This record gives sequence, structure tokens and C-alpha cells, in this order.
Amino acid sequence: MEHKLFSPISINNLNLTNRIVVAPMCQYSAIEGSATDWHLMHLGQLSISGSALVFIEATAVEEKGRITPGCLGLYSDDNQIALEKVIKFVKRYGNTKIGIQLAHAGRKASTEIPWLGGKPLSHDNSDSWETVAPSSEAYNSNWPSPLELDIQGLEYIKKCFVNSAKRAIEIGFDIIELHMAHGYLIHQFLSPISNTRTDKYGSTFENRIRYPLEIFKAIRDEISSDYPIGVRFSATDWVEFSSWNIEEATKFALKLKELGCDFFDVSSGGNSPKQNIVSGPAYQTRFASRIKSEVGIPTIAVGQINEPLQAESIISTGQADLIAIGRGMLYNPRWAWHAAEVFKKESAYPPQYARSHHSLIGLPIPGNPQTK
Ligand SMILES: Cc1cc2nc3c(=O)[nH]c(=O)nc-3n(C[C@H](O)[C@H](O)[C@H](O)COP(=O)(O)O)c2cc1C
Repeated sequence: MEHKLFSPISINNLNLTNRIVVAPMCQYSAIEGSATDWHLMHLGQLSISGSALVFIEATAVEEKGRITPGCLGLYSDDNQIALEKVIKFVKRYGNTKIGIQLAHAGRKASTEIPWLGGKPLSHDNSDSWETVAPSSEAYNSNWPSPLELDIQGLEYIKKCFVNSAKRAIEIGFDIIELHMAHGYLIHQFLSPISNTRTDKYGSTFENRIRYPLEIFKAIRDEISSDYPIGVRFSATDWVEFSSWNIEEATKFALKLKELGCDFFDVSSGGNSPKQNIVSGPAYQTRFASRIKSEVGIPTIAVGQINEPLQAESIISTGQADLIAIGRGMLYNPRWAWHAAEVFKKESAYPPQYARSHHSLIGLPIPGNPQTK
């Protein structure tokens, strides 16, 4: 039987050597939005992981769009210089393609970093800021009410997305993912739980998807048509009374495809403390599968995909085109090397590590200066 996990795939002009993706994961280790030496270490190890593609963490398009004061941003020249240093470094020594996830946290911004509690920063904390959202509903009763965005505010954030996308391309990112999931700003527009506007950006499905589509189009219009850009969205709110579910998400995905979206990364939840998530191994894959079959562009499944055979089965049965792994990659950044061994496939490794295991045959990372 021909295994598929280690077969190549293209997303627009980006050629990937296998189907393994590292999911975007916030590191809360930036200073004023700028990457630090932690990012060299974190992304350095992932760039030699043998995965085809590593997405860096949610990167805010404006200062107010950061989830925490430690979140990465790409809204200033300083941010750009710091991130470029990291990306040049990982491209010099590593061999994965590197993607960026552009984001705005909306009403879920201005919180403590998780290991300090993760709660909303109180108003008297000098690190806090006023959050913005489609409507003034707070995320939860003990969270601050965000400022409802007016048309000027919407235009401003749209421009911020475009500017950050241009900066990302200048830095040398291979692919851009827009974060429309997990209850952050764009998801807040999509869901009736967080969007109670009465203007053209709220209430009906067509109105709720309008601003997210405008953001996508504004970026697509500004960048080359062969540059890969896609979207991570939540396929459902996991809330019974919300209409943001797989039906609406599928219709939204079809609209994104019409606008030139190159891939989807299908996640779920994050927009309501009332969510009732039914989780387990590969629990979101059925959403990816539905999107892939109904929309038909490269689709990434993510969420508790931890075993090589499970990953192989998702790809070879056509449920998704790629699988992304988050926590499993933090725990075992050599996941792809080990999976390659299971299927007797080759996986890229640094030649410095060639003697670590007999299965490391054939594919020393070509760009690594030590290879020459
Ligand atoms: C530490 C950590 C940080 C995360 N940060 C992000 C993020 O920046 N953007 C995002 O879309 N998802 C983020 N996620 C969610 C992951 O990308 C992934 O979807 C989720 O962990 C489920 O996959 P897993 O079961 O393989 O971990 C984060 C998850 C973890 C564990």
C-alpha cells in the first residue's frame, strides 16, 4: 500500500515535501511585539523537525490586537527587523517552509500571559489597553466590555492586516494564514454570539461574513496571485444557540474560495465560555473533511492528531490534505522523523545529527552550511 503522509503537495506556488504541518502556537515571549532569542530557539528546533511547514504563532496586525503584552506583532519596523532576523536564521539552518498567522484578538486581547493566570488585565494595570470588537458584548461576565468598532476603526484594522501581510512577504515568509478562528476578532464578526451589530456588518449571515471577506480580499488584491494565502476558521462555536456551525462555516469557505483563498486550516470553538466541546482523537477532522469535500481546496485537519498511523489514515482516506500538530510537536519536535521511520520514508535532518539514528538516511538538509 502506498503511504501518503510523506507525499508532496502544492498550495498555490508553494511546494511542500510532505503533509505534516506545525500548528501556530503563541509563545508569549515577545517584547513590545518583537521576537526575541526565545523565538530563535523555539522556531530553530521546529525548522529541523522534518515537517514540511511550520506556522509561527498568531502575530498581531496592530498593538491592540495582541492577546497578551507578550504576543508577537508585525505592526512596526522594529517588529519587522526582529522577526526577519529569526526567519533568516531558521531558513539558513532549517529546511521547513515557514508560514505566518496574522491575527487580531479583538475582545479577547489585553490578557495576562497564561502562566501568570491568563485573565483579562485589569484597567489599573499599566500594561492593559481598551479592547475592540464588532459589538460591545464582553467575552464573559467578568471580562471588560470592548469598544464597538465604527467604520473608521474597521477600515484601520483592514489596512493593518494588509500592511502586516506586505511586511510578512518582505521578511520572506512562504505562506500567510489569516486567523479567523478561536473567538478572536474576525471570528467575533462571523458569530452571532459576539456580533450583534445592526449595520451591514451584523445580524444576517451575509452581513456577518462581510468584514472577514473584505479583509481577505484587501490582502489578496495587494499581493501576487501566485502567493499562497489561506484561512484558519472555527467550524463551529460548539454552542447550541449559535448559528455559527459547520453549515455556515462551509458557506463562508465557498465565498473565500471565490476570492482566491488557497487553503483552509479547520479548527473550532473559542468564542464563548458556554461552549460544549466534544473532544477526543482527531475530533475536528470531520469538519475538515466536510470542508474539503464541499469546497475542494487544500485543507488542513488539526486537533489531537498525535499518532503517525492516525495521521496517515486521515490523508490516505482523503479526509484532509495535510495534518497540523500543535502540542504533540512541543512535546516531541522529532515527530516527523519518527513517523518517517514507521513508514520507511525519508525525512530531512541536519547532517550534524546523522549519527543519532540508523533511520536517518538520504536527506541531509541541503541549505545547512555544514552540508557543504
Ligand atoms: C501553546 C499553544 C499556543 C497556541 N497558539 C495558537 C495560535 O497562536 N494560533 C492558533 O490558531 N492556534 C493556537 N493554538 C492552537 C493550536 O494551533 C492547535 O490548533 C491546537 O493545539 C489543537 O492541536 P493539537 O491537539 O495538535 O495541540 C495554540 C495551542 C497551544 C497548545
